[in-house]
Amino acid sequence: MNLRNLNTFGINVDVEEYLPITSTEQLRVKAKEYAGKDVLILGGGSNMLFVEKPKIPVFHIKIPGIRVISEQRNTIYVEAGAGVVWHELVQFAINHGYGGIENLSLIPGFCGAAPMQNIGAYGVELTQVFDHLKAVNLKTGGIEIFGAESCEFGYRSSIFKTKLKNQYAISSIVLKLTKYHTLNISYGSIKEILEQQNIHKPTIADVSKAVIKIRTSKLPDPAITGNAGSFFKNPVVPFSVFEKLKIKYDNIPGYQLSEHEVKIPAGWLIETCGWKGKRVGNTGTWPQQALVIINHGEASGIEILETARAIRDDVFNTFNIQLEPEVNLIGINQDDF
Ligand code: FAD
Ligand code: EPU
Repeated sequence: MNLRNLNTFGINVDVEEYLPITSTEQLRVKAKEYAGKDVLILGGGSNMLFVEKPKIPVFHIKIPGIRVISEQRNTIYVEAGAGVVWHELVQFAINHGYGGIENLSLIPGFCGAAPMQNIGAYGVELTQVFDHLKAVNLKTGGIEIFGAESCEFGYRSSIFKTKLKNQYAISSIVLKLTKYHTLNISYGSIKEILEQQNIHKPTIADVSKAVIKIRTSKLPDPAITGNAGSFFKNPVVPFSVFEKLKIKYDNIPGYQLSEHEVKIPAGWLIETCGWKGKRVGNTGTWPQQALVIINHGEASGIEILETARAIRDDVFNTFNIQLEPEVNLIGINQDDF
């Protein structure tokens, strides 16, 4: 089976064993059958880079279904199968007037992967609306429930990316949405767009549209240009380091997380090293957003990896800041990046 159309980088890889999985029961049966063997869990393929072709079976999680499981005065609990396209869930919520995930509009991928890195955009992270998830233990085939605390969510992180890596396949997620919703338009450009459009009392649909407008102006459409969104995480540095950098680079942007820590946009670091819109062979960065590494068409996973390493090295040599990949590297150990 060829996976070129199943990963948004568009990397041309073949796998020997490909199993589409369409129900939790089937997932449990397959987990038991393959217990003890490594398998690769694939969702929408929008946050992975096939550096090498996977030599292990691929479970493609396509479990469908969105349903409201309970409704209270102001709270709606909505369950989505791991194979539901994330933006379809967002549209479901908007169409029913349920608030909470409108800022996360148009993030590619499936619902089952959303908790993996605690997806986030425009001032909102999944953790803010997350209630629980169901996951199948890949050793036993048993179903386990994880509440928000046990997921250990962090910035672009969860327990499924760290301590429990490769041990569970998420089969569904349950979100807690609200009927009388307080919008979050704190992210500068959302407010600007709403003002430009003379929208003074925005609805969740207005916020979603504004987010989509910003996203489509900055990010490449994977259907046209292969990419996996931000390739690196935004680095978090001690405040003292940021202050020193500010002396040399007075325009360096930073978002203060606490008294001691500042998050610096990796896109700015990469752009400042001269990488914005640069092309190297079949690879490069997106002209509107230097943090996005792109495939100009025929790049292999190794070529993308080499460009990512060259960017990382330039940023390190210039700023003494180590960038870490956000994208999941398939075929090499994430720590060997
Ligand atoms: P995949 O790429 O298929 O998998 C990602 C990881 O999760 C892999 O390790 C995989 O093994 C694991 N996995 C997948 N499904 C399951 C499951 N059911 N159970 C257990 N493990 C699983 N992300 C953001 O957070 N914010 C953004 O704003 C954002 N913008 C993006 C823009 C573009 C243009 C692109 C291409 C990507 C962007 N991303 C963003 C990254 C990506 O969309 C998210 O990480 C998304 O949640 C990945 O979903 P997926 O189904 O494609 O996961
Ligand atoms: N910037 C530059 N040059 C660039 C790109 C960015 O200087 O080429 C600077 C600018 O100062 C800009 C700032 O970086 O104001 C922030 O840029 P942007 O708003 O595009 O956000 P980001 O920090 O680059 C993060 C997420 C995105 C998410 C957006 C919006 C990470 C790693 N990335 O990007 O998520 O959509 O914020 O919230 O946290 C993803 O995870 O794949 C992803 C796309």
